Order: sequence, then structure tokens, then C-alpha cells
Amino acid sequence: MKRLVSGVLTLGIIALLGAFTFNINSKELNTTANTQDELNLGFPDDVKKILKTSCFDCHSAASKNIKAKGALNFNKWNDYKTTKKIGKLNDLCELVQDGDMPTSKYLKKYPDKKLNEEQVKLICDWTKKEINSLME
Ligand code: HEC
Repeated sequence: MKRLVSGVLTLGIIALLGAFTFNINSKELNTTANTQDELNLGFPDDVKKILKTSCFDCHSAASKNIKAKGALNFNKWNDYKTTKKIGKLNDLCELVQDGDMPTSKYLKKYPDKKLNEEQVKLICDWTKKEINSLME
């Protein structure tokens, strides 16, 4: 009996450890695959595609990166006030232009998520247009 109990306990601990490790591994790579479809942002498709690939891991509701989510959460975009949207759009263009987003640590892990020049231009052209229409 004692043996059975300790066996069950060991199994339980292994299962717990497994769940814990899995949780850590999925920290940034959350199930953001569906986020874009759930989100009705009204952004152009090419912009949304870039944001989804390179930004949503941290900047969406599924993200476990509290700091990133607090700074920008696309799931809450539609609730942002116009002034906040304008500020974030302005930052957004600047950060990708300077190569500060996605973060360098993240890019080390996922180099293919780095934005190329063309994508940066696409993002900044869009933020400028969006800011203009928000200011009308
Ligand atoms: C690895 C996680 C991660 C990824 C991926 C990422 N960011 Fe961020 N982002 C952060 C963190 C963390 C902050 C908060 C920085 C701070 O508060 O110092 C942030 C802040 C921001 C802000 C808010 C700046 C402000 O203060 O208003 C914008 C805008 C932003 N990121 C845009 C982007 C864009 C666009 C992408 C994709 C091209 C992206 N981020 C990808 C982690 C990430």
C-alpha cells in the first residue's frame, strides 16, 4: 500500500512538473493563431498580418508578458480613446523604424519575425494615414 501511494505521488509530481515546464515554454508562443480572426480591428490585411506574426505574441490578450500587454494590447484596441490610439500609433511606427520592436531578445529566439524595410514602411505609411483619419 505504501508503495502504491508513493507511486501515485511520484506520478503526480511528474505530471505537475510537466505542466509547469510546458507553461514556461509556451510563455511567448501562445495560441495567438486565432487572435487575428477574433479581432475586428479594421486594420488593412497586410498590416494585420505583420502585427499578427511579429507583435501579437506579446501584445494581445493571450500574452503572458504583462508589461507588453499593459503597454499595448490589440484585444483592447477598440476600447482605447482616440488620443491613446494616436499616441500608440505614433510610438508603433517609431519603435519598428528604430528596430526596437519586436524586442532584440525575442528576435534572437525568432529571427524570422524581424521586420524588413518594406514592412517597416508599410507599417509607418499606415500609422500616418490612420493618425490623420483619427484627427479628422
Ligand atoms: C517579446 C515581446 C514583444 C514583442 C514580440 C513586441 N513587443 Fe512591443 N513591447 C514589449 C514590451 C515589454 C513593451 C513595454 C516596454 C516598456 O514599458 O518599457 C512594449 C511596448 C510597445 C509599445 C508601447 C510603447 C508605449 O510606451 O506606448 C508599442 C507601440 C509596441 N511595443 C509595439 C510593438 C510592435 C509594433 C511589435 C511588433 C512589430 C511589438 N511591439 C512586438 C514587448 C514586445
